[in-house]
Amino acid sequence: MRGDVDTIKERLDIGEVVGQYVKLEKAGKNLKGRCPFHNEKTASFFVSPDRQSFYCFGCGAKGDIFTFVGELEGLDFKATLKLLAERAGVELTYVRPEVKTEKDKIFAVLEDAALYFESNLRESAEAKKYLLSRGITDESMKTWRLGFVPEEWRLLYAHLTSLGYSKEILFKAGLIKQSEEHKDKEPYDIFRGRLIFPLFDPSGRVIALSGRALMKEAEPKYLNSPDTVLFNKSEILYGLDKAKDEVRKKNYAVLVEGQMDLVLSHQAGVKNTVASSGTAFTQAHLERLKRLSARIILAFDGDTAGKKAAEKSTILALSLGMEVKVAELPEGKDPADLVGESQDKWKDVLRESKHAIEIFLGEILKNEKDARKVGKAIERSILPLIALLSSAIERAHFVSLIAKRSGIREEVLWEDLKRIKTPHIQKAKDAESENEAQQAETSTARERIEERLAEALLWQKELPESSSERIALEKEVAELTDRLSLALLEEEIVGLKVAIAEGQVGDAAVRRIEELARKRDEERRKLM
Ligand code: CTP
Ligand code: MN
Repeated sequence: MRGDVDTIKERLDIGEVVGQYVKLEKAGKNLKGRCPFHNEKTASFFVSPDRQSFYCFGCGAKGDIFTFVGELEGLDFKATLKLLAERAGVELTYVRPEVKTEKDKIFAVLEDAALYFESNLRESAEAKKYLLSRGITDESMKTWRLGFVPEEWRLLYAHLTSLGYSKEILFKAGLIKQSEEHKDKEPYDIFRGRLIFPLFDPSGRVIALSGRALMKEAEPKYLNSPDTVLFNKSEILYGLDKAKDEVRKKNYAVLVEGQMDLVLSHQAGVKNTVASSGTAFTQAHLERLKRLSARIILAFDGDTAGKKAAEKSTILALSLGMEVKVAELPEGKDPADLVGESQDKWKDVLRESKHAIEIFLGEILKNEKDARKVGKAIERSILPLIALLSSAIERAHFVSLIAKRSGIREEVLWEDLKRIKTPHIQKAKDAESENEAQQAETSTARERIEERLAEALLWQKELPESSSERIALEKEVAELTDRLSLALLEEEIVGLKVAIAEGQVGDAAVRRIEELARKRDEERRKLM
């Protein structure tokens, strides 16, 4: 009897699976391309169809189709197994044991909460009417599993306890709260009198909720689940589960700020749209997206706040080496408003989006007539963006564009550009800081490895001894442990380098680095 893991590996060709994410070319018996796990210009990422594995000589990333897909899609081992089983047409024989981890329970209770809210929406004429009035169709309500909860204190609490969930799990899932003043009283629902948008992880499981007030005056307008073991506000990309394939296919993502914007954008057929949920786009968001495509269009509200947010995101995205366009929305409108007017208007606005630098330059020239002030504004907010571009050709292109549009001489712009030293620019430019840029990546890489390791260890316990899944998982645990020590070594080395550059430590640190580097190279060899 063969295990599911083996069957899946046998049926799927690693070259094909990886090839859906990374452009690969032939290199003898192997395939090679640019590593998706770290920033690189030359290809040091190899795939071996014979060994059914991949390896990156740049960063040490290594594994099989499970490791690869899991990391790129942001899935745990279980979810990856499910996804690849589907792709391979393998029916999983493994039956879930009765023992559930706490995470499993939280997933389950959130799923039941979402089901409950969905059924409430079907019964609430008022809530449905509101959504329809915003232009959201019945089909979209189903697709996005929108829900509703009436204005009562303990509806969800009562429902979920009747299904057998403990108070403790409801707290941990971020669904209920205890009153500080009345400690003797029963806990109450966090979400009351709201439309509910379930938030999903990349594999489509509910990990949190966002509730929109139905009444105009209710505060806050949107209420999100608190952070839990499953949910981190600054990392969630709303819509990613349904957008990721499309982002990859179209090779760009459309970024909007609100849930309504997102649902309506998808409804209008722009299925590569993702949204942040209640926070500005963070580095974690953008790194996540970059693994699917390095090109983004920012489509934020047409107001001051939206413009500020676009500038901030642009700086982040350019520092990560992404290509950023900005869609200009009519004053006072957001994407939801536009789709409401007509789907074509929304698509036109996206089609007319231009490189962020061009948009911001246009804004300055439109709003500022005084030549001296134009110069100042360009120096302050445009040149720093240009300095972030890694391609010299691009930098030259934009310098010449500014010169043409503003009348400032190119030599003068170049002169000013040379003087700019923001942390980002230094990062992009000198060699030492190339390491720093990698450090940022390494630390998230380390975190990812730690997370996967924790998952794998937990799950390993649940699996029957010597089942093929367990053996596969044990192998994975061993590998992850090796990769973790490598990532830790790299982190320490970079930390020391920074300390030396800042003049904080002396010669001893240099010797320590050499020692660590030797260890690291050993570890790398072990991983090959
Ligand atoms: N948001 C939030 N908390 C608030 C207000 C907003 O978390 N008090 C988040 C929500 O994710 C919201 C997004 O920020 O979708 C954009 O906010 P805003 O533009 O104010 O809301 P709209 O999306 O326009 O809301 P709606 O269309 O539902 O009126
Ligand atoms: Mn809005």
